[in-house]
Amino acid sequence: MTIKKRYKKSELIQFTINVLKKVGLNKLNSTTVAELIIRADERGVWSHGIVRLPVYVKRIEKRSAKINPSLKFKKITNNISHLSGDNGLGYIAASAGINKCVSLAKKNGIGLVAIKGSNHFGMAANYLEVAAKNKCMAWVFTNASKALPPHGAMAPFFGTSPFAFGCPTKNIKKPFILDMASSSVARGKLKFAAQNNIKIPFGYALDKFGKPTNDGAKAFEGIMLPFGGMKGAGLSWMMDIVAGIFTGANHSGKVKNAISDFSGASNVGHLMICLRTDLFQSHSSFIKKIEFGIKEVKKLKKAKGFKKIFHPGEPEFNNEIVNSKKGILLSIDTIKELEKLSIKYNVKSPFKI
Ligand SMILES: NC(=O)c1ccc[n+]([C@@H]2O[C@H](COP(=O)([O-])OP(=O)(O)OC[C@H]3O[C@@H](n4cnc5c(N)ncnc54)[C@H](O)[C@@H]3O)[C@@H](O)[C@H]2O)c1
Repeated sequence: MTIKKRYKKSELIQFTINVLKKVGLNKLNSTTVAELIIRADERGVWSHGIVRLPVYVKRIEKRSAKINPSLKFKKITNNISHLSGDNGLGYIAASAGINKCVSLAKKNGIGLVAIKGSNHFGMAANYLEVAAKNKCMAWVFTNASKALPPHGAMAPFFGTSPFAFGCPTKNIKKPFILDMASSSVARGKLKFAAQNNIKIPFGYALDKFGKPTNDGAKAFEGIMLPFGGMKGAGLSWMMDIVAGIFTGANHSGKVKNAISDFSGASNVGHLMICLRTDLFQSHSSFIKKIEFGIKEVKKLKKAKGFKKIFHPGEPEFNNEIVNSKKGILLSIDTIKELEKLSIKYNVKSPFKI
């Protein structure tokens, strides 16, 4: 990443709130969206952080997403709820969805919230963190616009939809979070490689003629590949079934591209499942066993080239420690884009090139 400067989390959140308010989001919605966007940067998941703000703003401006949606929950059973996101930014529906899901799980042991009529919800870990803080294990699924080919196909059809699972550990700030795109690499990282002439590993993408490439620019204009061949391809298809078909959202290649298609609502779907950790034993027994597993894993002989073994979510926690002390790194390209937003909306900017 080409580094220009580090910024304080609070100044990035305030800038994001101010921009979102200028395009009409109310105080609650702008704060919710801003905090979730910047949380991704804080955890080092910069591909889903403030770099995406210009595109979210554009969706609002073009009216392909609603400014302040009217969310509607429909009770299906005591522990299942169906949420209509009213085409607001995905962060708004997903944030309300996970809070509902946790409260259903607290009352009934398990909660399920299906969401339709949403948009790109950013980093899935955001919602897992809420569940983990509330002593729940959770799965969070979303579908996404077409980017990956089904196994054996040469055309993108399903999304890079992340598989996301989380649960608490002893350290409430460091939950187990497995949050991974079904692509070999997040599209934002591919874009960055394209813009900066960075070589990528073979296997991440094909060029537009279907040949394997390690050239970032050729990969960006070609086809991204799922991780693990048919396994990642199968997961991204599964995500379209559980988060798209099942929830009543768009599916089968119909989710509009968040970045390039402003012709109408994306109608993204999400599915959230929360389970209380104390269903079959006490919460403290669950945590003890999680900690035991982590300790045992860390004692294992390390593979060549590895100094430490981490549990999923730990690398991002380590990023957070550095970023909260030193500030959040932004690339020159991102700073330039944000500076353009600050000029366009006359918002005070912390960015100086
Ligand atoms: N909303 C959407 O449509 C969408 C689509 C794609 C991706 N995303 C988001 O993109 C983000 C990035 O996804 P990604 O696949 O590039 O993530 P990644 O490859 O950086 O990490 C994937 C997982 O591996 C774990 N991990 C990384 N290094 C590890 C190590 N050394 N040891 C043990 N575990 C390790 C991480 O904690 C994480 O859980 C995610 O937050 C995802 O939700 C969102």
